[in-house]
Amino acid sequence: MSALPPGLADVLRAARARRGPLLSDPRTSAFRLLNAGADGVPDVTADVFEDLCVVSLYRDFTPEEESALLDAAMEAWAPRALYLKRRPREARVLANVAKDALAPEQAARGESRESWVAKEGGLSFLIQPGQGLSVGLYLDMRDTRVWLREQARGLTVLNLFAYTCAFGVAALAGGATRALNIDASRRVLEWGEENARLNGQPVDRYDYIAGDVFEWLKRLAKKGETFDLVVSDPPSFSTTKTTRFSAARDYAQLAESAARLVAPGGRLVACCNHAGLPARRFEAMVAEGVALAGRAGRGVGSLGPSALDFPSPEGEEPALKVHVVQLR
Ligand SMILES: C[S@@+](CC[C@H](N)C(=O)[O-])C[C@H]1O[C@@H](n2cnc3c(N)ncnc32)[C@H](O)[C@@H]1O
Repeated sequence: MSALPPGLADVLRAARARRGPLLSDPRTSAFRLLNAGADGVPDVTADVFEDLCVVSLYRDFTPEEESALLDAAMEAWAPRALYLKRRPREARVLANVAKDALAPEQAARGESRESWVAKEGGLSFLIQPGQGLSVGLYLDMRDTRVWLREQARGLTVLNLFAYTCAFGVAALAGGATRALNIDASRRVLEWGEENARLNGQPVDRYDYIAGDVFEWLKRLAKKGETFDLVVSDPPSFSTTKTTRFSAARDYAQLAESAARLVAPGGRLVACCNHAGLPARRFEAMVAEGVALAGRAGRGVGSLGPSALDFPSPEGEEPALKVHVVQLR
């Protein structure tokens, strides 16, 4: 456990200054402002969405430490609102930790407001900071969204584990002919529909499927449906009424089912954010899945978090891995 560094407000100011190219990009107002130890403040991250700041704590901090951190963040970054998310390791396994203690609905400093709209590459995304640990947009996927947008013209896209459909929005903005979003939660899909509307995109409710991805992969395969780009971005662990998934154990099977839906010449965009799964092993699991589906594939690129706002500590690889495979 590391203490907060001395001169904390200056450390936070310096972290912001290192994001210069993002600060001066008028089309983007959402990025990571502080990435824990790599920015000199272990166990703390901060994300900015317009003038909203979301601070996450990855260990138990004393109330005095929390106050010192929040005061320094207000001093260094002057956001209109600052929300706090407590994510100590044990909170993830303790079912009885009250949600409101981990992710208070009200701002810790500044103005409490239900929603913000943040920009990324000129696209708008609805951010709801008081709705739990996740606020609507995963910022480490920015470069992958940019890539998808550049690739999508004239293509069909299947967005698995869609959450608020940011990949679907990026694909349609890039000229995709269709983006089919699947997620277990109807609530986040409605949020995704709102994101589409914010960007002037038509909303076809059939393209927002609330259901179990593993069931739907079978169903779509049975119907013989295929897509030019299939994005698979599961959580590290997922349990539904009928399925249990662990990325480190089951990614090859997920890649197999997803590969069956990739059109000839199309691409599988396999994503994984499990820090315990090294990139080499992950890529090997994706290749195994593609082979199990009876498809020939070759890796055509790797994406991941931008080093601009997600610097990695020396010698560590980022938790997020994005591996693109083209299938014959
Ligand atoms: C890591 S988030 C995906 C983030 C998203 N790709 C993005 O870029 O914003 C994981 C999502 O998977 C959904 N999920 C988890 N298990 C699922 C399952 N078996 N079937 C469908 N959705 C599932 C959750 O509801 C959650 O929205």
